[in-house]
This record gives sequence, structure tokens and C-alpha cells, in this order.
Amino acid sequence: MADTAARADHLSKVYGDAATRVVALDDVSVSLDRGRFTAIMGPSGSGKSTLMHCLAGLDGATSGAVYIGDTDLTRLKDKELTRLRRDQVGFIFQAFNLLPTLTALENITLPMDIAGRRPDQKWLDTVIDTIGLRDRLGHRPSELSGGQQQRVACARALASQPQVIFADEPTGNLDSRAGSQVLGFLRDSVRDLGQTVVMVTHDANAASYADRVVFLGDGRIVDDMADPTADLVFDRMRRLDAAGGAA
Ligand SMILES: Nc1ncnc2c1ncn2[C@@H]1O[C@H](COP(=O)(O)OP(=O)(O)OP(=O)(O)O)[C@@H](O)[C@H]1O
Ligand SMILES: [Mg+2]
Repeated sequence: MADTAARADHLSKVYGDAATRVVALDDVSVSLDRGRFTAIMGPSGSGKSTLMHCLAGLDGATSGAVYIGDTDLTRLKDKELTRLRRDQVGFIFQAFNLLPTLTALENITLPMDIAGRRPDQKWLDTVIDTIGLRDRLGHRPSELSGGQQQRVACARALASQPQVIFADEPTGNLDSRAGSQVLGFLRDSVRDLGQTVVMVTHDANAASYADRVVFLGDGRIVDDMADPTADLVFDRMRRLDAAGGAA
């Protein structure tokens, strides 16, 4: 499985007990290829964030297995899981989670500083030039636009060269121009830098930047599309919504 960056194998996730039981993921099996940009779509409550949190080791599985590379996360002890998350997984959240007192550059290298690792300067330069913020590195988040802050968050996720980057609605609160900058950057990081990116989105246009779209409905994978266009994705979402409404 050398070309698989992350994988769920018969993954189920159940929240609550008998009275409040919610099956957020129901026997999901999916392989995410290394060096590809995958979007995860589906109606609200369909399990997108849960799937991503389980794949990233932020949330445990109820049953089934989750792999990053060849490592089964469900077999790791807490400490091992923390280390794997730190070393091999990058996150981009909707709220950028930048530290206000640090400059852009300090924010980018913070996870490695915490881990006591020295960033690879050549790689760092490549990432900084790709995000196009070299002249803003000394600025604090409050001195950057929302799109620029989000690009700093992207650079922070890329800087440590993780096996895979997970992004939950990374363009959710950006305008369309800033959003397309971030999406273009994520796509370039896959095409030009060989990154692996998994992104949750509601937006058909955002999904069209990906190489593949996995559609969730009621905790199951209901469709899988290669080489998506915005029109195809939009059409598929509409039909899935209609099917969900009829059920
Ligand atoms: N901590 C939790 N406790 C109980 N139920 C939860 C918890 N987290 C999520 N759920 C439930 O699991 C289901 C899937 O939630 P999830 O957050 O994965 O949906 P989503 O597809 O990301 O939705 P959205 O598009 O609204 O973000 C929902 O029914 C939700 O209410
Ligand atoms: Mg969600």
C-alpha cells in the first residue's frame, strides 16, 4: 500500500448511548492516494468532519481500522498517536488557529519549534514562495487579510512535510477571490510539491480543484467521482439531496 496516504477500513463511529445513539459513520472503507487532492462532500450531518477527524487520529473509531501510511491508528497508544499526529499529519481548520502574538513566519514554524525540529530551509523557502507571502513574513495575523491568514495556516500545515494534510472547509469564511487563492495553493502543493490533501467542502466550485470527490450520505459513501468539474459536482449534490429528502 505504498501509494496510499490514508485509509479507512470498515470504519464505524457511533456517538451516544441507546437513547441518544447517532451512527455518524457506518462501515466506511476508503483509500486516499498519496500525491492526490481529494474532496469530501455531502449534506450537513452526513459524517464528513467525523470521517476526517477519525482519519487524522483526532477522534477514535467505534469499530474498523484507520491507517496513516501503513500504521493502524486504532492500535496506537495515546503517546504514539500524539507523536504520529504531530509528525505525519497537517491540519487546516476553518478558524485559522494562528497565534496573534507571533509573526507569519513564527506561526508557520511553530509546530516544528514545539516538536524541537529544525525546519528544512529549502523546503520552507519553497512553501513560502508558493504561498506568495514572502513580503508579509514579519506581519502578525491582525495585519494580514483573511485569505493571507488562511494561506499562512496552509503553509504551517505544509512546512513539516506531513504524509497528509486534512482541511475542514478551509475556504468556508473567505470571499471568492481569497478562497480561490487558497484552493489554488492547495492544488499547487499537490501538483508541484507532491503533497497529499484531503479537504471537506460544501462548495462545488471548491471541489472542482480536487482530483477526486468522495460523497457521503448518512454516514456512508454514496458516490465517488474522478476529475470533477463544478457542474458535475453541483449536479451530483443536487441529486443526492433530492434522494435524501425523499427517504
Ligand atoms: N460529539 C458528538 N456527539 C454526538 N453526536 C455527534 C458528535 N459529533 C458529531 N455528531 C453527529 O454525527 C453526525 C455527523 O456529524 P459530522 O460533524 O461528521 O457532520 P458533517 O458532515 O461534518 O456536517 P456539517 O456539514 O454540518 O459540518 C451528525 O448527526 C452529528 O450530529
Ligand atoms: Mg463538518
